[in-house]
Amino acid sequence: MPHGEQQGELFRVPAASTAPAPVPDGGSLELADQLDALAVDCDACHRCNLGLGRTRVVVSRGNPAARLMVIGEGPGAQEDASGLPFVGRAGQLLDQMLESVGIDSNRDAYVCNVVKCRPPDNRKPTAEEMAVCRPWLERQIALVNPGVILLAGATAMEGVLGVKGGITKLRGQWRQGSGDGLEGRWLMPIFHPSYLLRNPSRERGSPKWLTWQDLQDVRRRLDQLG
Ligand code: URA
Repeated sequence: MPHGEQQGELFRVPAASTAPAPVPDGGSLELADQLDALAVDCDACHRCNLGLGRTRVVVSRGNPAARLMVIGEGPGAQEDASGLPFVGRAGQLLDQMLESVGIDSNRDAYVCNVVKCRPPDNRKPTAEEMAVCRPWLERQIALVNPGVILLAGATAMEGVLGVKGGITKLRGQWRQGSGDGLEGRWLMPIFHPSYLLRNPSRERGSPKWLTWQDLQDVRRRLDQLG
């Protein structure tokens, strides 16, 4: 029985997760070096104007050896200040949601965004900003090599799959990646946690309830992949 269900509450877990990302062993040192190099390259990036307004480039958090990659839209204020993705209120909900199906976001997932710099006033990144940032994301996908990718929100779905709008219809439906480094990967669009913060109902059929079903599906897929 999934953790959240056991407690009869969606996305409520006993304790905040504090598990640190594992220290890479000898076998993955090369991967760690390559990800460090990627972060250095992102730090120097000024391919678009988002670079002008950023405090920190926000590349990733979590475990690069994880089979699950979570991709969001772009950094908000707290992410921009800390340099880490999904650490604000939406990130905390994301962590709870994942924890409710036994996924620790720092131990069992690699978390990143479609764009690495905060858009002003938290606006949606433009198609051009997403396109110029795309090579960084493709490099992340190639290095981390996830079997399953969780797309948090419509913008992530658009930025990664090129599919616009319709998250309400398309969430919860598995997509098999094709081209652009997505070959052989399973992708699952879900509602963005910011949307769930604005729609807190846990009733059957609510966005939160639906997301919980989607995450249980992700859990099953990860278990199948072994
Ligand atoms: N929303 C996102 O999509 N990404 C973050 O990192 C934070 C909030």
